[in-house]
Amino acid sequence: MERPLVFVHGSGDSGRIWRLQIEHLGKERAFAIDLPGHGERADTLPAEVTVEDYARTVHEVITSELGLQRPIIAGHSLGGAIALMMGLEYGEELSGLILVGTGARLRVHPAILQEAREAPDLAREHTNALCLLPEHVPTLGTQILQEQVKTKPGILYRDLLACDKFDVMSRLHEVALPTLVICGSEDRLTLPKYSTFLRERLTGVEHGARLHIFPAAGHYVMREQPDMVNQAIEEWLR
Ligand code: COA
Repeated sequence: MERPLVFVHGSGDSGRIWRLQIEHLGKERAFAIDLPGHGERADTLPAEVTVEDYARTVHEVITSELGLQRPIIAGHSLGGAIALMMGLEYGEELSGLILVGTGARLRVHPAILQEAREAPDLAREHTNALCLLPEHVPTLGTQILQEQVKTKPGILYRDLLACDKFDVMSRLHEVALPTLVICGSEDRLTLPKYSTFLRERLTGVEHGARLHIFPAAGHYVMREQPDMVNQAIEEWLR
């Protein structure tokens, strides 16, 4: 049987951010989940969480709700941090990782954190714009904002705070899973150098990680260059 894929979204987003990947790979095989307090999923977590907490809940969703065996975890940004943490904590139950626009350490600019805490609606719009190439903001940016279920106040801040505390830079060699790393060349939130670092340090399996840095894309590379991303995933799965 083909290995299932579980897609995990980033801060303040929902599973819908992956809809072009799910459409491409098919709903029988690819599942985009909502983290607690995002999209359709009720919030079951406290006001402050860690990436470990989110990884534990994703693990529960995969085992108890979806009943999947040895899935590949694909994650974007915070979702990529969650995927990496799952690779460290539950690696033997997984068969691979796809890390999109993310890194082994995700410090967040204090001004972004402050705005997320004090003016979450404004922060949502501003981070959406920062995630895209400027020419994609009026079209794709608006579309992404419209299709997302707005999170409660506090959730974006909780997510960004979890990112800010995340750091597994010294543990990457412990991840013993085939890994695909993808980044937009113009990503301003998780710099392409973070992805290069992942490729260099993910040495836990024989052939290491495969890296693609795609042009004309920012942090939302899977929406800005969906064909390139889908093809890279397909080739890597083969
Ligand atoms: N992979 C590889 N290198 C990384 C890294 C990662 N995941 N995270 C940080 N580094 C590097 C930085 O490039 C920097 O290297 P340098 O000293 O050669 O320039 C060094 O580690 C320290 O960086 P950082 O941990 O980010 O601390 P800082 O005090 O230099 O900067 C911020 C902190 C918040 C100002 C900075 O991270 C930033 O501008 N972030 C903005 C983007 C943002 O908010 N993204 C949200 C992510 S969800």
